[in-house]
Amino acid sequence: MILGIETSCDETSVALLERDGNVRVNLISSQIERHQPFGGVVPEIASREHLQHLFPLVGQALRDGQARWEDVESIAVTSGPGLIGALLVGVAGAQGLAYGLGIPIISVNHLEGHIYSPFLQTTGPSVPLPERFLALVISGGHSAIYDVRGADVRQINRTRDDAIGETFDKVAKFIGLPYPGGPQIEKHARLGTADPKRFPFPVPQFKDESLDFSYSGIKAGAIRLAREQGVRIDGDAKTLADFCATFQNALAAQLFDRLDSVWSRLEGTKPGEVAVAGGVAANGVIRERLQEWGGKRGVTVRLPEKRYCTDNAAMIAFAGLRKGQAVDPRRVVTRSRIG
Ligand code: KG4
Ligand code: ZN
Repeated sequence: MILGIETSCDETSVALLERDGNVRVNLISSQIERHQPFGGVVPEIASREHLQHLFPLVGQALRDGQARWEDVESIAVTSGPGLIGALLVGVAGAQGLAYGLGIPIISVNHLEGHIYSPFLQTTGPSVPLPERFLALVISGGHSAIYDVRGADVRQINRTRDDAIGETFDKVAKFIGLPYPGGPQIEKHARLGTADPKRFPFPVPQFKDESLDFSYSGIKAGAIRLAREQGVRIDGDAKTLADFCATFQNALAAQLFDRLDSVWSRLEGTKPGEVAVAGGVAANGVIRERLQEWGGKRGVTVRLPEKRYCTDNAAMIAFAGLRKGQAVDPRRVVTRSRIG
């Protein structure tokens, strides 16, 4: 088995994965409540929380997975990108364990963890990976599309400014919704008879026909609108619902506009699958529209189970399993930014 450790942001997670990709255990200790009073993740608090929870979680993973230390063949750990202090807790923890056990470490890029997460299943081995697929990563830190062929992961576009999840979070914070804002916006947008067309939102375009995402314009527009209309968590419920539905729609419109452009400009044979990953892939409206999008084009859209959308160690162990490139525990390099 492979032990996965993820501590790049505000979730301490430990998983045990079998060689065929079967997830034996995937434990997540969320710090959301600790960060909520500040409306976002406080790096120092994140590091301290990881320090407190990592080893108890490793012990629990072994107990829950009815595994012994001898069953663990290697440790896959997120070494970046993320909050440096938070990453270091996971990496140093993994190094100590690996060194003590005399087993190797596989250093995993957090984004690669997300990219392969749609192929994990709750029970049973992972879904076989196609030779080539397009990966759409939509999370709190990233909005990007990759062309994936085996171990060759090529970035096609990225966001020029804010990530889609970050935009959800910042606008939600402005109107007084608790962190993380994405699920909150989704919840309010679903209330009653929310009218997603009440407030007009243009889809931002670049003059240079760039394929990049851009969310800062939507963020600024949404904040201006919220101020003008007096949208608040404690204000008129119908206005709040309409606002959330409109804003969510605007974010989705930008997503599909760029996905369409990337798709139409792909040269040669198009991939048969689009794998979507990251926290925002948990959004019900976006999930439904992605399925429709794929249906119209005859493309398989592979969505991760909701438990594998947000940060988790199962996806890190899975990426580690695929990579298989083990290093001496003393040689792991931790980086807050990669590439
Ligand atoms: O992948 P993730 O756990 O962290 C990063 O690696 O960034 O994603 C967290 C992000 C947050 O911005 C959160 O608001 C967003 O995912 N998110 C959602 C939903 N669930 C989580 N956004 C929209 N709708 C959701 N249901
Ligand atoms: Zn993530």
